[in-house]
Amino acid sequence: MAKLKIVEYGDPVLRKVTSRVIKFDKSLRKLVEDMFETMYASEGIGFAAPQIGVSKRVLVLDVEYPSKRYIDQQTKKEVSSYNPLVLINPVIIQKEGELISKEGCLSFPNVYFDVIRHKKIMVRYQDLLGKERRLLAENDLLCRCIQHEIDHLDGKLFVDKPSDVAEMKKAIAEAGFGNVVSPPPAVLIG
Ligand code: NI
Repeated sequence: MAKLKIVEYGDPVLRKVTSRVIKFDKSLRKLVEDMFETMYASEGIGFAAPQIGVSKRVLVLDVEYPSKRYIDQQTKKEVSSYNPLVLINPVIIQKEGELISKEGCLSFPNVYFDVIRHKKIMVRYQDLLGKERRLLAENDLLCRCIQHEIDHLDGKLFVDKPSDVAEMKKAIAEAGFGNVVSPPPAVLIG
């Protein structure tokens, strides 16, 4: 495994729509391992492949490990309990409600502001073996985190969905990111 450099805002790869994973092979497992190592080392709870420059529909999550700690009886040291989750080719197939809460992103260090998300989602995805699975997430950190990471796979970033544009711009400016440009809204035809 290797901890890789995290791509920050400004790199065009973060705005690209990623490609579907077709092959569930050794190189996919290596990519997932690298993503977990990079995410855990950076104390993130979710991470998408474009954030290490790989434009594929792969994301990893572990929303519990920073808060779930216990004392190891042998070493007497405090350790985290891990609950890793891998979503390949994820698609939100049901969504409802609205939820506003603070978010951050490893590609925008030190930037936090309120973001609008759905309250409840059903996601269809494939696991590391290519098996199709479904996951229901409601009203919690996992629900928000999955939506944030799936956006990464579509070239969308949390700066595109602030609940208060002025708050977002202030947070961005204070972190030294300068101007943030959201892509123009898609034009509906027909
Ligand atoms: Ni992010």
